[in-house]
Amino acid sequence: MTTTAVTPDVAHNARPYLYGGEEAAVASALSAGQYNHGALTDEFEQRVAGLLGVPDVVAVASGTAAIHIGLLAAGVGPWHEVLVPSFTFCATVQAILATGAQPRFVEVNPGTGCVEPAGILAALTPRTRAVLPVLYGGRAVDLTPARPALDEEGVTVVEDAAQAFGSWQGDRRVGATGVVTCFSFGPIKNLTCGLGGAIVPRTPLEADTCRRLRGLGIVESAAHRAEATTYTVDGFGMRVQMSPLNAAIGLVQLQHFAEAETRRRELWRAYAAALDGANGVALVDADVPHTVPALCAIRVLNNRRDRIFRKLRQDRVGVGVHYPPNHLQPAFAAWHRPLPVTERLGQEIMTLPFHQHLTPADAEYVAGMIRQALAGANR
Ligand SMILES: Cc1ncc(COP(=O)(O)O)c(C=O)c1O
Repeated sequence: MTTTAVTPDVAHNARPYLYGGEEAAVASALSAGQYNHGALTDEFEQRVAGLLGVPDVVAVASGTAAIHIGLLAAGVGPWHEVLVPSFTFCATVQAILATGAQPRFVEVNPGTGCVEPAGILAALTPRTRAVLPVLYGGRAVDLTPARPALDEEGVTVVEDAAQAFGSWQGDRRVGATGVVTCFSFGPIKNLTCGLGGAIVPRTPLEADTCRRLRGLGIVESAAHRAEATTYTVDGFGMRVQMSPLNAAIGLVQLQHFAEAETRRRELWRAYAAALDGANGVALVDADVPHTVPALCAIRVLNNRRDRIFRKLRQDRVGVGVHYPPNHLQPAFAAWHRPLPVTERLGQEIMTLPFHQHLTPADAEYVAGMIRQALAGANR
């Protein structure tokens, strides 16, 4: 039995982490008086592009908006189908519905929580216009083996990399692999802007389309508009820019991103070591040498997840469930199809407290509490 004292931080499944400097940066952005789109937003885009090693990035108000715009820019609309795992946050599916397209749910590998090339190819229909893999927990999804067939069918890969900022696919960062990539900079993500998101477009034309879609369909840049007597609206657009107030937070966080990479990997590895050999649970593999983990998930086997979950919550250990499958949600019932692997995963999955306030000692404490709860469930 572990004797490590509980820190209040293990009661949180996730929590924003500030490095210091964010409050001053927001105060300065407030005084500067540009709250819609401004120079700080442009600077944030450039710095994110620099970190990823890509020519351009388009910042938006949220990860959901990023996926919505990424899909629209890829030409997705009514009458199209988008292949998507059911095992994801509901935002992924809502972004598809926002385009007027329909989700077609696909299975994931229960060992990773991610879709696989073979499952994608098997689910293609003549109406498939895009594939939306979800980089669960930050793990890259490499669809290279399916790419020739997808290209031939005119199917675009738009990644939901909401949880994967900073992760690698081979020797390239996620976002630099040639597909449309969508990030979230929400409160508990690897890098937070408070709220925010970004799209990595494939071409300058696609970048332009994304910028118009985020800014009410207006063609001219904000800077250009300030000097002109009119402006041009040439298509549909939303008001989902990233405010300079949020960009200010992100710019400070970017300066410390190396710390996020180290601390998050360290915490994930501490959980893996502390749970090694525990009977009745299996770690969902995050491919941690390549991943900046956004969460640490385990499967609780033998129909004991709910009991273990309740016991841990009683003991003030902040476990969570990410995610209940979407094809079982009332809102998405029209697109239900049997997905036995995902359904089982939905009953087994449990995420552990995971954020940068925690230390490896906290992970050992949580692992000890899990072992105790498992032993109790055996009696
Ligand atoms: C997998 C996944 N997709 C999409 C989103 C949506 O991002 P946001 O909350 O920034 O809109 C999130 C985060 O909440 C997420 O975890």
